[in-house]
Amino acid sequence: MNIVVGVTGGIAAYKAVQLVRLLIKAGHDVTVIPTEDALRFVGTPTWEAVSRNTVTTSVHDDVARVRHVALGQAAELVIVAPATANTIAKMTAGLADDLLGTTLLATTAPVAIAPAMHTEMWRHPATQANIQTLRERGVHVLGPGDGELTGGDSGPGRMLEPEEIYDRALSVLTPQDLAGRTVAVSAGGTREPIDPVRFLGNRSSGRQGVALAAEAAARGAQVTLVAANISADVLAAAQHPHIEIRRVGTAAELGEAMADAAASADIVVMAAAVADYRPANAADQKLTKEEGVLDRIDLVENDDIVAGLAASRRHGQVIVAFAAETLVDADARRERAKRKRERKGVDLLVVNRVDAEHGFESPDNAVEVIGAGGAVVASASGSKREVARTIWGAVIAE
Ligand code: CTP
Repeated sequence: MNIVVGVTGGIAAYKAVQLVRLLIKAGHDVTVIPTEDALRFVGTPTWEAVSRNTVTTSVHDDVARVRHVALGQAAELVIVAPATANTIAKMTAGLADDLLGTTLLATTAPVAIAPAMHTEMWRHPATQANIQTLRERGVHVLGPGDGELTGGDSGPGRMLEPEEIYDRALSVLTPQDLAGRTVAVSAGGTREPIDPVRFLGNRSSGRQGVALAAEAAARGAQVTLVAANISADVLAAAQHPHIEIRRVGTAAELGEAMADAAASADIVVMAAAVADYRPANAADQKLTKEEGVLDRIDLVENDDIVAGLAASRRHGQVIVAFAAETLVDADARRERAKRKRERKGVDLLVVNRVDAEHGFESPDNAVEVIGAGGAVVASASGSKREVARTIWGAVIAE
């Protein structure tokens, strides 16, 4: 996609470098348009190096190609990050005294801005009125966040983190095909206590489930994410006003939280890796070798949560389960998936291949989605977010 990133004069300009990198990494063609002021924070060579495109600020550069309107006309998305109070005021007034100003007037593409300024400036009636006007014109206002500001102050006005701007700006272009739907997603891996310091667990990082929750929210759904032992950095990708996160530890806790969320959900996705067994008696005190009680753990089987949810589903509710497979042979994998889908009574079973490059702990995944009669209704490989897009496509088509 052809994306223009406008950078204006605030210290958060340095964070926009990371935003451009993320966009380039995802394969977009990015033209950076800094204001003169922005160049006092981060210079032209940096922008040219990260964007791999020529960078100019003035309407008098490259006049033969009418650059001052051409960039706006060609853009499919414009992101202004950081957007200072001054730039926001200029946008509201429609001023076009530099290349960013002309581009913003010449474009018909969606525009997203990430405000960054001190709290007082953000709260000032002038800024608030400008923001209101821009919103009414359809500009997407991303943030600002609440946190540390330059000079040791703290409060609303901090620019959102580049990853969040990236997700939210691209979701501006995302179809709102889950709007009005309620979704329950489980993610991560359960831990079944053996004693206060040990547990039986698995290697699920929760990344695929978090990507599913984030993608569903981007497409307009209201999401409950039941998160089993997911690290804070992975969970950060699920920070969204329409995602409620409920943290759980054990399979029993996850089962309870999912039953609760599923009671009002249109779609249930069980992406969590649930322990099939738990120690029969978790010890209150740490077990020791000295007492010779560590050489054997009696297990009892956990309830199959997704099968239970499927058996007591609400009318019209779509239920999706996952299966991790190390089988290399695709036909054998599909046969097993078909049986598992029927056994669990779910609508869709997402089979993910687990090997060195895919599955647990890896940023990438490769899946096949098995539907009625064992048919492969969708397949995808790539980043977990890309895979999430395909899975939601299959769910919506159900
Ligand atoms: N699941 C569940 N409750 C359990 C165990 C698993 O809800 N007690 C769900 C998982 O969240 C996932 C699917 O069932 O959606 C995985 O099924 P499972 O039978 O555990 O399959 P695999 O993990 O693939 O293992 P196996 O083939 O060995 O049974």
